[in-house]
Amino acid sequence: MQIKAVTENKKQHLDLLLLADEQESMIDRYLERGTMYALYDGGLRSVCVVTDEGGGVLEVKNLATTPQFQGRGYGRQMLAWLADFYHGAYQIMQVGTGDSPLTLPFYQHCGFQITHIVKDFFVNNYDHPIYEAGKQLRDMIYLQKEI
Ligand SMILES: CC(C)(COP(=O)(O)OP(=O)(O)OC[C@H]1O[C@@H](n2cnc3c(N)ncnc32)[C@H](O)[C@@H]1OP(=O)(O)O)[C@@H](O)C(=O)NCCC(=O)NCCS
Repeated sequence: MQIKAVTENKKQHLDLLLLADEQESMIDRYLERGTMYALYDGGLRSVCVVTDEGGGVLEVKNLATTPQFQGRGYGRQMLAWLADFYHGAYQIMQVGTGDSPLTLPFYQHCGFQITHIVKDFFVNNYDHPIYEAGKQLRDMIYLQKEI
């Protein structure tokens, strides 16, 4: 397994980024200022984008694993690698996600705890309703973990 920074043509992985954040204009808000990583294990397995939010907070803005390789530990390994790589440079790793049974339990499983909620974030910032597992996402739920 190998994790590499992606410094050029970050949109080569747009198909994966859109799995985690389905509106491209929202991805454009953080893609350039963010640092992107790709995890390879034979082929490409996962991508993520992290940003410096100030105050010692590193935010995971996007994390996606190729559908046929989900549930094999790649997402967890990417988060563990980030925590190790950024240990000392940041104190907190943060992630914001919808109230979805597909993502919240994953982050909690990886040691994140809910810290705060931004009401109606998805309703106010996306140009169409976002559904996950048959449920409309409304609030952004932030979770954090010490690194
Ligand atoms: C969410 C996502 C990134 C998880 O990546 P992954 O590589 O499939 O996750 P992992 O296999 O590393 O899972 C890590 C652990 O979380 C658990 N987990 C993952 N999804 C879960 C879920 N929906 N409910 C409960 N547990 C879950 C796994 O069982 C695993 O447990 P283990 O460590 O005991 O083996 C992946 O499903 C994905 O790409 N989804 C689409 C994009 C997306 O929604 N991204 C998140 C945006 S906020």
